[in-house]
This record gives sequence, structure tokens and C-alpha cells, in this order.
Amino acid sequence: MSFCSSSVSPIELDFSRKYDASHAQAYLKKHKDGLARRLSHWREAQIGRRALELAGNPRRVLDLPCGAGRFWPMLCEERDRRVLAADNSADMLSVARGSQPPEIVARIRTFQTSAFAIDLEDGAVDCVFCIRLLHHIEDARHRLAMLREFHRVSSGTVICSLWVDGNYMSWRRNCLESRRKADAQVSRNRFVVARPVIESEFRAAGWNVVAALDFLPGYAMWRTYVLAKEARGHERNTERGARGGI
Ligand SMILES: C[S@@+](CC[C@H](N)C(=O)[O-])C[C@H]1O[C@@H](n2cnc3c(N)ncnc32)[C@H](O)[C@@H]1O
Repeated sequence: MSFCSSSVSPIELDFSRKYDASHAQAYLKKHKDGLARRLSHWREAQIGRRALELAGNPRRVLDLPCGAGRFWPMLCEERDRRVLAADNSADMLSVARGSQPPEIVARIRTFQTSAFAIDLEDGAVDCVFCIRLLHHIEDARHRLAMLREFHRVSSGTVICSLWVDGNYMSWRRNCLESRRKADAQVSRNRFVVARPVIESEFRAAGWNVVAALDFLPGYAMWRTYVLAKEARGHERNTERGARGGI
């Protein structure tokens, strides 16, 4: 795996600035807090594991953004896997290194970088594992820039999660947003993207959809996509086969 300075200028978004030391600690606690949060993390790790299988069990994986490193133990379950982990926030990286098991931390190379301008050479990893970042990005041009940067750095696949429409929670959120429109003061930093819209953005950035895994089909907004540069066997499957749950 080779490191280098990216030649692209990173896009700076407001929400990225909030991940300071206290927010990083709060984020670590959040996913351990109470049964519902623990179950939710367990389900996300289960989906991540399945997504990696569908991506062909990639050897070199970049966890970006890694946040507090909550997926590191799952990513390291594959003994031969080389895991890189990066985040825009130095505080997040420091919380991750200090809170994950030392034997796991010892296997992972961490570095600070922006997902818009990743400090890695072209094709440096086999898979970019990008959980809970795209739903913060409202502007389609920014999502495209990030997806193109993933296309440069990954030799084969991307696994990414975001909020999509077509489920009960997105319908409820839509009702909430309509009420909020009356109050222009409320600033949003998480967004739902229509499935046909994000899937056309994937294609525009050079990615084919291999699979789509829903957190709780029909109910939750979270969907994890497995994307590949090359058309894969799964894509020749029927819609049901390619997009089935786990
Ligand atoms: C909601 S957390 C998700 C972290 C992790 N993937 C998880 O699911 O636990 C969002 C993370 O994105 C990072 N982040 C924000 N803007 C970023 C950017 N432009 N490039 C890379 N990371 C960014 C933040 O520092 C934060 O750690």
C-alpha cells in the first residue's frame, strides 16, 4: 500500500468541523449506550461482514471515515486482511486508537485525510469501506467528487451506507421536514437521497451496483451498497437475487 499526497483539493463541509475531542468521545459512547444502540451496531457489523463477502473478501481495505474505529474488530476477522483506517478528524483517530483492543490497533495503519482528497496512490486498496458519511452530504456534486475519489483509490470495490427513500422512516422524515420548512433557522446536516438518484450518481462515477443491503427492509432509511468497477456475477442475478437481504 502506498501513501502519497493527493493532488485534489479537499472540499470542506461545515458538518466535518464538529468532530473535536469532546464530540469524538461522545460518538464513541453513543454506539455503546443502551440495548437499542448495541443491537444497531451489531446489525451494522453483520451487514458490513456480508457486504465484504459480496465484494469478494477484499485483502486491502480502507475504513474511511473510521470514526471511533467501531468496525475494526469486524474488519480484522479476516486474518490476511490489511486494514487502513482514516478520518478527517485527528481527535476521532486518537479516540479510535485509545479505545479499540490493542491487538486490533496493532494491525491497523491509521492516518488523517479527507475523503475528497485521499492521501493514497491510485488503486492503493481493494475496497473503500465508507459507513455513515454520504448521508451528511447534501450536494450531488460533492457526492460525485467523493465517489470519483474512491474510484481512483480503490482497485475494485466500495462499500458505502447512506439514508435512502422508499421506507417508513424516510416518509416520516419527509413529514418532519415539511413542518420544519416553516422555520428557516433549522439547519440540517443529514439527508435522504432517492434511490434512483444515488444509483445514477454511482454509475456516473464509474461504479456498478453489486448489492444493496437494507438495515431493516421497508422500515429503516439505512442502506448499504456494494459497488464494483467491473460488472460482477451477482449483477447478472435477478433484482431479488442481487439486492436480497442477509
Ligand atoms: C457519523 S461518523 C461515522 C464514523 C464511522 N464510519 C462509523 O460509522 O462509526 C462521521 C465521521 O466522518 C468524519 N468526516 C467528516 N468529514 C469528513 C471528510 N471530509 N473526510 C473524511 N472523514 C470525514 C468525521 O470526522 C466522523 O468521524
